[in-house]
Amino acid sequence: MASVDAEHVSVDFPLYHGSARSLKRAMFAAASGGRIGKDAHKRVVVQGLRDVSFHLGAGDRLGLVGSNGAGKTTLLRTLAGIYEPVRGRIRVQGSLNALLDPNLGMNPDLTGRENISLRGLFAGLGRAAIRRLEDDVRDFADLDEFMDLPVRTYSSGMVVRLGFALATAIHPEVLLMDEWFLAGDAGFMEKARTRLETLVRSAEILVLSSHIKDVVTRWCTRVIWLDKGRIMEDGAPDEVLGHYLAASEAHGDEKADAKPEHAALAGKALAQPAPRDEAALTSVDRGDRR
Ligand SMILES: Nc1ncnc2c1ncn2[C@@H]1O[C@H](COP(=O)(O)OP(=O)(O)O)[C@@H](O)[C@H]1O
Ligand SMILES: [Mg+2]
Repeated sequence: MASVDAEHVSVDFPLYHGSARSLKRAMFAAASGGRIGKDAHKRVVVQGLRDVSFHLGAGDRLGLVGSNGAGKTTLLRTLAGIYEPVRGRIRVQGSLNALLDPNLGMNPDLTGRENISLRGLFAGLGRAAIRRLEDDVRDFADLDEFMDLPVRTYSSGMVVRLGFALATAIHPEVLLMDEWFLAGDAGFMEKARTRLETLVRSAEILVLSSHIKDVVTRWCTRVIWLDKGRIMEDGAPDEVLGHYLAASEAHGDEKADAKPEHAALAGKALAQPAPRDEAALTSVDRGDRR
């Protein structure tokens, strides 16, 4: 069974002393929500996460909310193993897929078909499964004859569709999704919704960062509010969102659900995960990384 454990996790981004540029960056980071501190070697750092702990088991759908710079993306990247905590530890049991950047891992000099095969090989799929993946992605992304042309010849719409289709082709047990991933135009998101819902429903654990109140209330069973890298509140979606929205209104922050194009995604509640019909990836325990 899948699980995610974060124990007293802290992540720092060092800023290098002595240059005007680092000062500028420090000011920028402070303005954008991070907290400036010093590490054990007295170096100036932006504290991206501070002492973050939580446990997730099968069926948990966690929403991360917080203003810009609060640490949501940093937490997702740390769970994905991209950043290493300076203190504490992360343990993830189960196959993991991180939807953090729609274009991640696409090579513009390769054809659509080659990009798809590479992704399949990377996920450990066999030849027949890769062939199915090709059909699936080609149909979703409307590539037709472009399948065998380099991705750099694609229209921007085709690139977005291919990136999305590829990223959502592998169904993991632990699914991480950053809010960038949900930002598409309304027409595309309408098409993407079913695919995304299938993916989310088949995952045992979801961790989603989102500014959109409706997405969080409908998709998540629990919400963590991050502020300056710390957990402000962890609990039921309605309660935590209520407190977060009240606080951000008091600060005059941007409205939490200002983007109408995201409404397409908020249409339908996703209840408990459906039983997995097939395990796309074998279970991987990344174990302790410290
Ligand atoms: N690679 C990085 N280098 C330096 N600082 C970073 C880096 N990534 C994030 N930060 C800082 O960490 C803090 C948290 O950022 P982030 O996790 O992106 O917030 P959110 O996703 O909630 O908007 C911010 O102050 C940001 O400037
Ligand atoms: Mg972010």
